[in-house]
Amino acid sequence: MTTDMSELADVLARRAKVAGGRAVETIPVILALADAAARLAAFVAQPSADGSHGAYVGAANSDGDAQRKLDLVAEEICQAAARASGVGPYLSEETEAALTLDPAGALAMAIDPLDGSSNIAVNGVIGTIFALLPAPPGSLATPALAFAQPGHAVIASGFFMYGPQTRLVVSLGAGVDIFALDPDTGRFVLFESAATVPAGGREFAINASNARHWAAPVRRYIDACLEGADGPRGVDFNMRWAGSMVADVYRLLGRGGVFLYPSDARSNYAQGRLRLVYEAFPMAFLIEQAGGRAIDGHDRILDLTPSRPHQRIPLILGEAEEVEVLRRLHADDLGAPSEGPASRRGAA
Ligand code: AHG
Ligand code: MN
Ligand code: MN
Repeated sequence: MTTDMSELADVLARRAKVAGGRAVETIPVILALADAAARLAAFVAQPSADGSHGAYVGAANSDGDAQRKLDLVAEEICQAAARASGVGPYLSEETEAALTLDPAGALAMAIDPLDGSSNIAVNGVIGTIFALLPAPPGSLATPALAFAQPGHAVIASGFFMYGPQTRLVVSLGAGVDIFALDPDTGRFVLFESAATVPAGGREFAINASNARHWAAPVRRYIDACLEGADGPRGVDFNMRWAGSMVADVYRLLGRGGVFLYPSDARSNYAQGRLRLVYEAFPMAFLIEQAGGRAIDGHDRILDLTPSRPHQRIPLILGEAEEVEVLRRLHADDLGAPSEGPASRRGAA
């Protein structure tokens, strides 16, 4: 299959004109990633001879997660696309440290090549999440510098979702567009432009199996949702948890609601589970571009400056008003007596 990027290229060029700045520079990189994603989608759809896509390879990634075969295939395909399209500094969930790919690269890429790894074994939705940032002075020699920039340095971000259809959700800073891959023609077809996070979604996504470990603000929010029409919110809520952030965040576009992966009291979850640079930054950029908000409980995600490349962050994103409800609960909690290690701001 050859991929036809003409429609995607046209739409991105129009958005880049509106966005201005360096947005236009991101287009060749996004097109190269789209081509890589189409090949990854075809690979994923192909039954492996021994059913081993989800098999562990006996190694661990930067954060200690066991790597699966598909994590490594996705890394290889995405890194090759980044290199071929002139990306300089490169940071992936699957690389120990930041790398320099093109020694003359003007853009940096942060990427989660395969999001939702635990879904591979159950044929569930998986994806690829990316953000493009400027390569600041000195970052070609010391690529980690590119990933020490605050989130508002992000120029463009997006994610590919490998589900019943392969879709691309992307923003160059002038709204959010959604494309669907036609597997017969290899064409990314515009599916929805100016996608938004509507208000009134009344839906939350959180891994409720961790409820006993949550801090008070999250517990109070979810308890009120669960009380539904009989509780303080006076309305029933729905719940979803896909186990892959791409699927849960995709649902916010068009349906609204909130997604939470908060800090909790388990060991190693004092900063939640998701990574700031290549999971939270790209998703926060998209959700803000769609009219929603993204915070760590207190502060805007895109105002945070990473202290290390693979840093984790508690993440709450979705409808602006629901995120505000959660921000207030966290702010109120700062004045309240501590109920445990994860309820204090320093641990949140
Ligand atoms: P990854 O597969 O890149 O490690 O990311 C998985 C993430 C995210 O997609 C999802 O929301 C979350 O981990 C699921 O975590 P739990 O298994 O703790 O629910
Ligand atoms: Mn991930
Ligand atoms: Mn991953």
